[in-house]
Amino acid sequence: MGVRVSIAGLASAVANQGAIGTISSIGLGDFEDAKNDYENVSREALENEIGKARALTDGILAVNFMGVLSNVEDLIPAAIRAGIMVIIFGAGIPTKLPALAPDPEVNLVPIISSARVAELISRTWDRRFDRIPDAFILEGPLAGGHLGFTLEQLDNVDDFSLEVLLPQVLEAVKPFEDKHGRSIPIIVAGGIYTGGDIARMMEMGASGVQMGTRFVVTEECDVSQEFKQRFLDATKEDIVIIKSPVGLPGRAIRNKLLQDLEAGVKIKLNCPYQCLTACKIATARYCIAKALTDSWAGDVDDGLMFCGSNVFRVDTILTVKELIDELMGELAEA
Ligand SMILES: Cc1cc2nc3c(=O)[nH]c(=O)nc-3n(C[C@H](O)[C@H](O)[C@H](O)COP(=O)(O)O)c2cc1C
Repeated sequence: MGVRVSIAGLASAVANQGAIGTISSIGLGDFEDAKNDYENVSREALENEIGKARALTDGILAVNFMGVLSNVEDLIPAAIRAGIMVIIFGAGIPTKLPALAPDPEVNLVPIISSARVAELISRTWDRRFDRIPDAFILEGPLAGGHLGFTLEQLDNVDDFSLEVLLPQVLEAVKPFEDKHGRSIPIIVAGGIYTGGDIARMMEMGASGVQMGTRFVVTEECDVSQEFKQRFLDATKEDIVIIKSPVGLPGRAIRNKLLQDLEAGVKIKLNCPYQCLTACKIATARYCIAKALTDSWAGDVDDGLMFCGSNVFRVDTILTVKELIDELMGELAEA
């Protein structure tokens, strides 16, 4: 979870409980420094974050990248040099990813939202690199952050639920699993809340789940206390879908920033470096990197807070261990 929601603190705590802790590579580094040398500052900050997390855990760490990052091709090899063995890639179709990470020991995990894209990535990698993804994360329409669905599709979430998409994805990857003689685990994400949800998904053929929202309200999560409090206070009515400068819809908590944007208030904007390929300074109404960093730091009125559709259900801050123990207990019971 970016920006800085899941970095060394949360990722290492999750890895210490035997799950995979994911560091977000987005928006790391000092933005003032970055003005002069964005690529180097951003890469060094990621290396630093990986080092910090590694010092706190011997467990499995992943790094999440977005295809829309202007320096993604520099960051991925840097993460691998720093010892990361799981590369998660979203917000774009990673047709060239195996070329950036050719070591077959490094696990490549694209995020997808449809069987069509699962098939496209598997076919392209098979043909060009004689390789298939090591897993897919299938993110449904209830997830937090940027979403791989159109606004119209998000009006009909039941048509694109994980229950609908998962069987389609399992079928789409089957020929590639058969050809390569190994499985492509499907990890589902978006709206998974209890161990019962995990059991239901695994019974349908998922190999695991990725969870975001519930881990924001953990003691170890790297965001400000103010951000966590907004999660605790959020009601169903506070959850909105926005059109992000990244060019994708996103789910967020309605706050002063979003109200100002709705009202047409002009927000001061300058972009000293282009961190996102898709973001156009001439048409963007605000800097999403700055807005996400501001909320991380505690300015939850003028910053942007992404959230999953279940955010209204969270009402207490747990430790990562308490949360994972609760989920595993419910899973065993289910
Ligand atoms: C605050 C927040 C930030 C997120 N940022 C990212 C991100 O930078 N990259 C990404 O691939 N997914 C991101 N996500 C999506 C999560 O990784 C996860 O797949 C999703 O939230 C799962 O749904 P859940 O929140 O209902 O558990 C974010 C989610 C939240 C809540």
